[in-house]
Amino acid sequence: MQRNHARHLRARLRQAAFTHAPLWVTRGRAARSKSVQAIHLARHDVPLEHLPPELDGMRVTHLSDLHVGPVLAPKDLPRIVALANQLDGDLVAVTGDFVDLSLTVLEPVIHALQQLRAPLGVWLVPGNHDYLDDGPELIRRFQKAGLNLLLNRAESIKARGAPVLVAGVDFPHKKKQLGSHLVRAFHRAPRRPESALRLLLSHHPDAFDWAGRHDVDLTLSGHTHGGQLVLARTGGKRGSIGLGSLGFKYPHGLYRRDRHFLYVTSGVGSWFPLRVQCPAEIASLTLRRRAA
Ligand SMILES: [Fe+2]
Repeated sequence: MQRNHARHLRARLRQAAFTHAPLWVTRGRAARSKSVQAIHLARHDVPLEHLPPELDGMRVTHLSDLHVGPVLAPKDLPRIVALANQLDGDLVAVTGDFVDLSLTVLEPVIHALQQLRAPLGVWLVPGNHDYLDDGPELIRRFQKAGLNLLLNRAESIKARGAPVLVAGVDFPHKKKQLGSHLVRAFHRAPRRPESALRLLLSHHPDAFDWAGRHDVDLTLSGHTHGGQLVLARTGGKRGSIGLGSLGFKYPHGLYRRDRHFLYVTSGVGSWFPLRVQCPAEIASLTLRRRAA
């Protein structure tokens, strides 16, 4: 995709109003506040019907939305990598928005991603912010660095002897593209039982609407930041009232439809320097075998 100058200008205006202005007014204190800097380690069990016994207890470490730039700076990355590696996941998934806007931070971002450790690999998909400056350049540099970027494709790997499918989709710049991205990702992918566990990485959580069609056990997403501003925790299906629940169908947390699950993380970084009742997080998801 070519650089879109109108989109880039809008992104710069957005960053000036919602990021640089509050940082200027607070002399940078907003970015260093505990509400923005503290990272919660969110641990959840995911009960999967088709999980083979040898994969019971497998852990996925899920990070998203680092937005490296004015709020979360390159100097914060070693702390984030250390926290993620402490979770000791079998597999690491990073679901996009690596940069907030400018690619000037790309070197430290790539270096940090290369420091993430997992025996089954570190798998990545891009988010919308990764396209705001120069998306093709970001993709080229990630691929040159040997990072496992999943752009509408799936890879088969072996985990404890069992075949696992890890699929990922590119960010859909038009909402209707998301379904066709998934079709492309799964087009040549082996079906069950040749894939015993089927994972999908998608920056946008609405990919979950197609999870059943492609028999995905667990979809991993970000994008929403949980809304960043939560006015009240309501529990139940809605979960909370705030920016996330106003703007998104799946704002934050673990969702289930039939035997398919979605986890939407509130993300590691922020695009404006404020979080209320919605801490940044890194998630550790433990897959559990569940009787049908
Ligand atoms: Fe984001």
